[in-house]
Amino acid sequence: MPYLARDRVLHATVCGAMGPRLSSRRMIRVRGMEKSYRTGKLVNKVLHGVDLEVSDGEFVAIVGPSGSGKSTLLHALGGLDRDYTGLVEIDGKDLHKLSDVELSNYRNRDVGFVFQAFNLLAHLTCRENVALPAQFSRGETTATAAESSKRAQAMLERVGLADKVDAQPNTLSGGQKQRVAIARALFNTPRMMLCDEPTGNLDSKTGEQILDLFRELNDKDGITVLIVTHDPRISELAGRTVRVEDGHLYEGADDEDTVQDASGTEADDSKDTNA
Ligand SMILES: Nc1ncnc2c1ncn2[C@@H]1O[C@H](COP(=O)(O)OP(=O)(O)O)[C@@H](O)[C@H]1O
Ligand SMILES: [Mg+2]
Repeated sequence: MPYLARDRVLHATVCGAMGPRLSSRRMIRVRGMEKSYRTGKLVNKVLHGVDLEVSDGEFVAIVGPSGSGKSTLLHALGGLDRDYTGLVEIDGKDLHKLSDVELSNYRNRDVGFVFQAFNLLAHLTCRENVALPAQFSRGETTATAAESSKRAQAMLERVGLADKVDAQPNTLSGGQKQRVAIARALFNTPRMMLCDEPTGNLDSKTGEQILDLFRELNDKDGITVLIVTHDPRISELAGRTVRVEDGHLYEGADDEDTVQDASGTEADDSKDTNA
């Protein structure tokens, strides 16, 4: 059995016996992680040595000024980018040491990604969008198209969109689109959700409903949730807040930064008030 699949069984056993919130098993360990971007001859060093540990079942808000490297860190944690130095370990496995197949299995099965821009395919129905991860697991799974479709429907029901299964994304409100994106992230039963400003395009009430959904996925399903955010309410909801600043990661929020960012223009341009 691949180690990640074996871990999933172990995870289920631990959760079944103790309840998901009581697990203190370490899931993420980052040590001395450094990341630079090169543009021509220019080198922009973004992360100068980040250390982070996250336990199975935690809900962590990641805050910090714009451009501080929050998305960069999230991409590394999710195995979307391995062009860094230092250690990023998930369940004791160094992501740098995974083969390409192991890495793509990790991204597909263990991580659910949710972004600010919902990234739905306009020509597909909600059900088809949610079932997309099945396409990437071809050869890995024996699920038929009918089974994938049924599972997609169940995930849409899980996020409160039972009546939108066959709708096209462009007929949905912003909040509904983000629910479809969350259903898609849930399709392969991830252990961890990595969310990059998931309420950034939503009005505050809709954003709150989306946050409640993440809270519930963490509480009831035991999914570890990491959310990059400018939204001070997420920090209130999260069990823990960490801050990326000056290339390092610190425990706790810095209120001044959070407020300053929340009133900035970056995430405010395209508020979708049509909840
Ligand atoms: N693909 C890239 N190429 C070059 N520079 C990048 C790239 N992605 C991000 N950066 C730069 O890295 C810094 C951190 O970016 P990012 O991680 O997106 O910050 P945050 O999410 O905290 O706003 C910024 O200065 C940004 O311009
Ligand atoms: Mg970002």
